[in-house]
Amino acid sequence: MEKRAELYAGKAKSVFGTEDPDLLVLEFRDDTSAFDGKKRQQLARKGQVNNRFNAFVMDRLAAAGVPTHFERLLGDRESLVKRLDMLPLECVVRNYAAGSLCRRYGVEEGLELVPPTFEFFLKSDALGDPMVNEYHIRSLGWAEPWQVERMKELTFRINEILPPLFAAADLLLVDYKLEFGLFRGELMLGDEVTPDGCRVWDRRTREKLDKDRFRQDLGRVVESYELVGNRLGIHFD
Ligand code: TMP
Ligand code: ASP
Repeated sequence: MEKRAELYAGKAKSVFGTEDPDLLVLEFRDDTSAFDGKKRQQLARKGQVNNRFNAFVMDRLAAAGVPTHFERLLGDRESLVKRLDMLPLECVVRNYAAGSLCRRYGVEEGLELVPPTFEFFLKSDALGDPMVNEYHIRSLGWAEPWQVERMKELTFRINEILPPLFAAADLLLVDYKLEFGLFRGELMLGDEVTPDGCRVWDRRTREKLDKDRFRQDLGRVVESYELVGNRLGIHFD
């Protein structure tokens, strides 16, 4: 697959066209950012670790019947994906309380959420990714009602697949962010599922093994991503 012009450079990935107008190349870079781009750093090997991590998760989801944009790994840092028209929303599902939920509602980190909870955020660094509700989404035209329903349905289906996978590796999938888009009228999972957009804790010690290590300057960021991957059965070169 021939890689053509760079179409878009995000904070951690770049997107390239290919000779097929329906397909894109995603390049996972070592750039790491948090707090809406206010904190940035290069972390060696993160791109290749996240590329493989994402491929593993996307394959598992596809095998369980979840439609995703993922086609195949192309190289160390590159994957081939379908070109989606992305919806400007982030779907966050939370199994345990952490991060902004704790700050917003004053609950203790680590509280189990029964049932798991769901939030929409508007994807906008300039606005700091504000939380939005379904009425905002409808009135401001960010997605249609059927798309909102489908995003929730797919997110909860994904949340039946991933937490047991992590639990079998003695890991807690605390929360994570998903992004969806449209391909020929069908809504499917896009973007990435990696420790950059998840919280993952060791089940016994509750040690943080995700991007909170970067946000909170805890060190061993990429090593922790690899540890999570290794426990899930992913082999990194
Ligand atoms: P939060 O606690 O900061 O709202 O984040 C919840 C989860 O979603 C956490 O795993 C990080 C992820 N997330 C992103 O990766 N990017 C985002 O822009 C947002 C809002 C959340
Ligand atoms: N991924 C989001 C951002 O870059 C949230 C975060 O990591 O703090 O702003």
